[in-house]
Amino acid sequence: MSEITLLKHLARSLMTGQPIAAQDPHRLHWHLMPTTGLMNDPNGFIQAHGRYHLFYQWNPFACKHGAKWWGHVSSPDLVQWKHEPVALIPSEDYEINGCYSGSAVLKDEKIHLLYTGNVKFPDGSRTAWQCLAVEQPDGTYEKQGPVIALPEGYTGHVRDPKVWFHDNHWYMVLAAQSPNLKGKVLLYRSDDLQQWELKGEIAGSYVNQLTEFGYMWECPDLFSFNDTDILMCCPQGLAAKAYEFLNLYQAGYFVGSLDYETASFSHGKFHELDNGFEFYAPQTTETEDGRRLLFGWLGLPDDNELAQPTVKYGWVDCMTCPRELTFQDGKLYQNPVSELTELRQGNGVLWSGIAKEAPSFEGVSAELQISAAGPFTLSLRGDARLAWDGEKLTLTRQNWRTQEEETRYWFGQLDKLHLLLDASSIELFINDGEACMTARYFPDHASKMLRFSGDHAVSIHHWLLSACVVE
Ligand code: FRU
Repeated sequence: MSEITLLKHLARSLMTGQPIAAQDPHRLHWHLMPTTGLMNDPNGFIQAHGRYHLFYQWNPFACKHGAKWWGHVSSPDLVQWKHEPVALIPSEDYEINGCYSGSAVLKDEKIHLLYTGNVKFPDGSRTAWQCLAVEQPDGTYEKQGPVIALPEGYTGHVRDPKVWFHDNHWYMVLAAQSPNLKGKVLLYRSDDLQQWELKGEIAGSYVNQLTEFGYMWECPDLFSFNDTDILMCCPQGLAAKAYEFLNLYQAGYFVGSLDYETASFSHGKFHELDNGFEFYAPQTTETEDGRRLLFGWLGLPDDNELAQPTVKYGWVDCMTCPRELTFQDGKLYQNPVSELTELRQGNGVLWSGIAKEAPSFEGVSAELQISAAGPFTLSLRGDARLAWDGEKLTLTRQNWRTQEEETRYWFGQLDKLHLLLDASSIELFINDGEACMTARYFPDHASKMLRFSGDHAVSIHHWLLSACVVE
């Protein structure tokens, strides 16, 4: 379909869909979510022209995956966002089944988008083009077409270019799949974002010391802290272990060192980035003040995603809050960006005492900092439960499809908990960001309260958070 035809359908979808979505009590108050339809990966996250820009995978027409668009929002401060013109619409032959994920860089004072043109054939096979689009003065993007064709020796599953500048060259990591269905990450180099040279495979299943490690590694991202290089990626096809890899797909990282000339990446073991239920396809950017920020998709494909109750209101999934990454003692730490304190209403309430004597706190849109002298349980609006037993922290909720209880785990010594809650999301930061647990949940809207239990002392700081709509 032409762009014009697609835009006519978009107008109808927004006009009919928005009033229905607005009635959903599970709409979020301060997270980015789709106006209508399905939102997935954060794309093109960049600070440029004095604003943060975030693009996102979007199916504006339905709560299902399909021919994705790139929506676009921008913000001066990561708190107040506004809608920008839609950036990419899948109208050309080389992207007809979706403008899939990618990234943004600033070149010649213009944002350049690199994304995957996804093309599916009637026999079920597919191909992929890595494409370029350039920012125009009116805030729209002009497509320049494909710049990388399917590399030889890989299946049609090649996607998600993440580009950065290093030592006078542009570099790209790209997810790929070998013919025997092993996930790989490729490294490319360019001088102009147009001509790209494949340098080699830097990581993957059966690369370096890894043996079987999944059939596809989606959304790779490579960045550094001083001399340490971090490769983030989302392996699909890892078997669940007792307490690891419990979600259908994983998001995690390797710590190592990239030799840009030989395209070799020596790295340690895979660390999961999140111990919760929904966290996928994270993407980072470096800010002008030198911080490494991250957005993740607060969703997970192919599992129970479409059993979420928001689907009947015509929308599904959302972004995590913006987070800052730091690197300490060989590990990534994640914390909410400091800008989010702007959402706090007043000074909040401080309370200390025995957990079971704590008052109930409102938790629809709230922030809590908790420290505890011993085991305690926190009921989250009667629909999810957080429990610390002295050895492990567990997050338990009802499975949306089967209604059975399901649990995720973190093992360690708990010093501090930092909890960010929105109408249907939980983001938990453990020990100043040493670990995270991220999840959606769908409490009855009438049950708003958080209740502590336990016989040990706790101290709690609670704030209500202001809503922040996208203009
Ligand atoms: C990850 C992903 C990417 C792909 C995009 C399509 O969630 O599958 O690999 O580019 O989503 O929407």
